[in-house]
Amino acid sequence: MNIIEFADKDQLGREAAAMIARTIEAKPHAVLGLATGGTPVDTYRELIRLHQSKQLSLKQTKTVNLDEYVGLDSDHENSYMTYMKRHLFDHIDIPKDQYYLPNGNASNLDLECLRYEQLIQDLGGIDLQLLGIGQNGHIGFNEPGTPFTSRTHVVQLDENTRQTNARYFSSIDEVPTYAITMGIESILSSKKILLLASGKSKAKVIQYLEKAEIHPDFPASALKLHQDVTVFIDREAGSLR
Ligand code: PGA
Repeated sequence: MNIIEFADKDQLGREAAAMIARTIEAKPHAVLGLATGGTPVDTYRELIRLHQSKQLSLKQTKTVNLDEYVGLDSDHENSYMTYMKRHLFDHIDIPKDQYYLPNGNASNLDLECLRYEQLIQDLGGIDLQLLGIGQNGHIGFNEPGTPFTSRTHVVQLDENTRQTNARYFSSIDEVPTYAITMGIESILSSKKILLLASGKSKAKVIQYLEKAEIHPDFPASALKLHQDVTVFIDREAGSLR
């Protein structure tokens, strides 16, 4: 695991976008694994800027997202589909049929998980997976205790995670209780992984990640089993190292 510290979250976003852009330049039909949350917003903004200044095209690129809430329509203002359109897809040239998220409103969620896992395989696997990290060490919605052998599955969200995400909803009661997430093994099957962490609220988890033994109680520790993981942090997230 290679940890690289940048001065602030703006620089982190630019560098993360640059790594994504290099991946697409080397392989225009690359499959990107994407994440939601506060952290990648700067990265997506920079990708949009690169696209608008004609330095980057995602016309041939395909993307698969890590997770989606269960029970929200895909056009709900808090669905991860809406997030992705708002922060990236609506502003770049990726065709509508080349980005994918799990369908959290599928009538059979178990089948949907299998379908999504198969889709990733049919696309040829993920070339570069972008990740955030939760304060409890979750990656995607893989909460502490998730087996490392997990593939795409339905999860009940931790109370901690629901409270953290309540800032996007009008009340905590509206935060869904379940989500579909790629599993730890799905994530580890990616060829390359880029984890981003910014801000003081991530300082503890980054300190812990560096020292942590590999154990399901701390899901992000699974990344130590992968041979090509880069962690970009800003100075605040690195302040307890
Ligand atoms: P954040 O979420 O980017 O909003 O901090 C990251 C995560 O929970 O995985």
